[in-house]
Order: sequence, then structure tokens, then C-alpha cells
Amino acid sequence: MKKINLKPIDLPLTGDLSVPGDKSISHRAIIFGSLAQGKTKITRFLNGEDCLMTIKAFQAMGVKIDQQDDQVLVESEGIAGLKEPLEPIYFGNSGTTARLMLGVLAGLPFHTTIYGDLSLTKRPMDRVRDPLREMGAKIDGRDDGNLLPIAVRGQSLSGITFKPPMKSAQVKSGVLLAGLLADGETTVIETTKTRDHTENLLSAFGGSINVDGNTITLKGKQSLTGTEIEVPGDISSAAFFIVGALLVRGSHITIKNVGLNPTRTGLLDVLNQMGANLVIKETKRVGKEAIGDITVKYAELNAVEVDGDVIPRMIDEFPILALLATQVSGKTIIRDAEELKHKETDRITAVVDILNTLGAKVEGTDDGMIIEGKTPLIGGEVSSDGDHRLGMMIAIASLICQEKVTLVDPDVINISYPTFFDDLNMLQAK
Ligand code: S3P
Repeated sequence: MKKINLKPIDLPLTGDLSVPGDKSISHRAIIFGSLAQGKTKITRFLNGEDCLMTIKAFQAMGVKIDQQDDQVLVESEGIAGLKEPLEPIYFGNSGTTARLMLGVLAGLPFHTTIYGDLSLTKRPMDRVRDPLREMGAKIDGRDDGNLLPIAVRGQSLSGITFKPPMKSAQVKSGVLLAGLLADGETTVIETTKTRDHTENLLSAFGGSINVDGNTITLKGKQSLTGTEIEVPGDISSAAFFIVGALLVRGSHITIKNVGLNPTRTGLLDVLNQMGANLVIKETKRVGKEAIGDITVKYAELNAVEVDGDVIPRMIDEFPILALLATQVSGKTIIRDAEELKHKETDRITAVVDILNTLGAKVEGTDDGMIIEGKTPLIGGEVSSDGDHRLGMMIAIASLICQEKVTLVDPDVINISYPTFFDDLNMLQAK
């Protein structure tokens, strides 16, 4: 396994940065572009391994998709033009591809088999399998279709009303996508609002969807039309440098053109509560997605308790928040975040292990973590464990460790942020 040595930083992080396009929006732009008739032009597409899996899935079904770096052109005949793939489709590490595509494949008139890497093969699909079966889907696989590889025999589906038992945009989106192909109406009622890019993008492709608080309703059998999509910068990628600047004394950076959708900005709210004084400036809207600049300066922060409705608004940011919490005054308590156990790794266990190996004092709980602040980090050898966000957390931790950090399996960062180390070097160079 590849290893790299990372040294403590000797300069603050400074300058302006544009992070790559949003992962969630990039996946959905490909999905809707492929279900829509006509041409869809996507700019600032995330050219990361996960999103390429979604492209390959639709190419296997006959959609013409031309991707050059962060520019993508999708040309599709719409849902009726999709063809049965001749071979099983590989989804790599991408949970978003798996959950969303299960919804699509369940309603297409042909058979598909899907599989993934070792991490994805361990992740639960019953959360989408169950509502999809209620709609009439035929899904089979290991553990009765809970675990990949999974075979889907596409069917005509009927709309349902569904209350997801977990807070998950992937589950909501899988059901809404199936609902789009189904007869009748589909309603999803969330207990807590999760990221709403599926709802926003469906409208951008000319679809009709009604959002009333946490209740989302759409009619099936809608036809969509190709369009132009500009993907905002991914706030979940920006989070690593925002926290980096809060950790390294003297830092002052601005992240430009980043997505500010309120279902994604939970970390910014928590950082402000901790005393970060971020300057957040909305500069434009693309469709229903807000885009803007975030300026952050190093600051001394205080611990807070993080729980409740903010959790899904920052679900991918807990590894980097946990790292920050090791350096603030007081004890940070994270609750209600049991969903972390179902990410690319069990992110409660993995974050606790990594941070403690580096010298922190973190305790895992059933639904979160308790993190002791003001604990010097020493260094050591730690693995990303095949989880891109853990890889980036370790790289940011290395900036403030007293000794070198050896990161095992750094290349996994390519899943969501292929230019991560270039951007980190750029911010350190000034
Ligand atoms: C995503 C939703 C989140 C998030 C993942 C992307 C999406 O997962 O962790 O990185 O694009 O819908 P859950 O909705 O399962 O929490």
C-alpha cells in the first residue's frame, strides 16, 4: 500500500482558492441529464472517481456522455432510450451512485447487476431496497438484496408515501428517482430536512416537484429536458481548508464560488458558534443553488455541543470537525450522528482511532464522539482506510502535528478531491 510522509507546516495558509465541483450535484446532474431528452452541458463537474462511476453507469445504458476534465456533455434520448447493459455495472466506492441508481434501475424495463469495491460492498442498501420493494421493485442480492452485488429486474412501479427512518438524502433521492419513473404520485416525508439537490435539479430539468416543509411530492412519468448546469464548489471539500485555516495560527484564506445551500452549511453555523467569525458572502444563484465566497481567519475557538437538526446539514464534515475539536478550549460533544457508522468507513470508530493514534483524547459513543480540547497532536502512521474524507482529515492534522505523519493510502482522496494536495501546497506557498 502506498504511503506518504507529511511534515508539520511552517507557514500559515493564505490566499484565495476555488475547490472542485460539488459531488452530490455532479452525480445528480449526470443522472437527470441522462434521464432528460436532449443535450445537457455541465460545467465545473467534479472529475473525481465517484462521479465517474455515475457517468460509466449511464454510458453502459447507451447514453452519450463526453467528459473532458470538469466539462461534460450528455446527449440522451431520455428514459425511453436507455438500453439494458450487457455487463454488470461497477460503482466503485460510491454510495451515492448505488443508492440513487437503485431507484432509477428499479423502474427501467430491463435487468441490471451492480457491484462495488470492498467498502461499498459492506454498506447497507436495505434503506432503499425496502421502500423500492414497496413500490413494486424486484431487487435481489447478498443478504436478501441488502448488500452488493445486487441484481435489479426493472419493473413498472407505483408511487408511495414514505417516511425514511433515517436522515438520508441518498434514501430520499433513491425513492424520488423511482417515483419519477413510477405510476401515480410519490411523497417523501422527512423528520429532518436533508440536502435538497435532487429536488432543486429536478426543477432545473423542467420537472415538477412540490416541496412543502419536509414533505416532498412528485408525479411519476414526467419527461425532462436537457439543460445547462453550473456546479458550485463543494462545501464539503472547502471544509478541510476552512478548518485548516482555523488550526494554523496566522492563516487567512478565501474560498471562492462555493455552494452555500442551507442544507449543506451546518459546519459554518457550528464554527461561528465556536467563535470563528467567518465572512460568508453570497455572490450568485444558479437555479435554486446559492453560491458565494467564504473568508476565514485563524481564531481561538471554544467547544460546543453538536446535535439535532444540524447533523444532516454537515454529515460529511464530522471527521474534520473532530480534528478541530482536539485544539479548541473545552470538551466537544457530538450526538445524534449514528449515520456516521454507515459512511465509507464507520466514521465514529475510524476517526476516534486515527485521532487517538496521533495523540488526541477522543471517545466514541453510540451516536457520536466526545473530544477533549487543547490536546497537542504528536504524529505517527495512520491509514485513510479507503475513506477519502479520513485521508484529507489526516493531511490537515499533519499541519499541526509536532512530528511527521505517515499517511497510508493517500490516493483515495481522488474520490472527491483529486487536486487536494496541489491546493494545499498552493495555500502554503504564499
Ligand atoms: C449524499 C448524502 C449523504 C452524504 C454523501 C452524499 C448525497 O449521505 O454523506 O456523501 O449526495 O445524497 P446520506 O444521505 O446517506 O447521509
